[in-house]
Amino acid sequence: MRLINQTCLVTGSSSGIGKAIARKMAMEGANVIINYYSDKTSAEELAHDLEEISVDNEMMVVKGDVSKQKDVDNIFRKTIDKFGALDILVSNSGIQIDAPSHELTLEQWNRVIDVNLTGQFLCAQAAIKCFLHQGIRPNISKAMGKIIHMSSVHEIIPWAGHLNYASSKGGLLMLMKSLALEYGKDKIRVNSIAPGAIQTAINEEVWSSKKGMENLLKLIPYGRIGQVEDVANAAAWLASDESDYVTGTTIFVDGGMSCYPGFLDNG
Ligand code: BGC
Repeated sequence: MRLINQTCLVTGSSSGIGKAIARKMAMEGANVIINYYSDKTSAEELAHDLEEISVDNEMMVVKGDVSKQKDVDNIFRKTIDKFGALDILVSNSGIQIDAPSHELTLEQWNRVIDVNLTGQFLCAQAAIKCFLHQGIRPNISKAMGKIIHMSSVHEIIPWAGHLNYASSKGGLLMLMKSLALEYGKDKIRVNSIAPGAIQTAINEEVWSSKKGMENLLKLIPYGRIGQVEDVANAAAWLASDESDYVTGTTIFVDGGMSCYPGFLDNG
């Protein structure tokens, strides 16, 4: 119970990694805002489940597209109206729209950049405004606020056929570091988590076939695909005061995928 009396917004938490993070934050005692884009039923079911396992903490479900200023304003307004303060933003929403780069349309490029990078900017900006307005909340957390960006191993690993996605994550690396630099003096901590292959719907096409899984495992020194809880555990630590001296960095939760596994028996 490391997050008692704290409020945590998790964007894109009706499924996958976001859902596991919402669950973990609730188990740590936080109030959780479950943001979804299209799957209302799943977001509401999650809120219901989490309320059952909660003690004094409460859940709230809010619809919104993180790439739209109006929606972001609404998500944050509802958060403050209900809980009075925000302590943790887990900016998790992200999408993949893949195509060979010479066929990628401007629309596909824009949509991924809008959600994965502009959405991260809009949510981080709104969270920082809340944190600065609230100030440090004594006995709640040592930090004025915590932002956790959901990045990817592809913030450093180039990815053929995924130009928009890899570019958005590469951009996110500098967004995270620049914000950590700018707001460190205010005791706002800004970090990223870079998951490798985590078994969710986003990469189901890869892990659902035997051949796909075999090929994938060649990229993972630790020898297994990741689970959403692997990422959620890192997020809870980054949100808690246990990581109070950690800011401006990326925690790779990737089973070693970013250690150049091609060099295991080559080079
Ligand atoms: C992507 C997944 C992929 C993983 C490793 C993630 O960021 O969303 O589709 O399996 O990176 O390549």
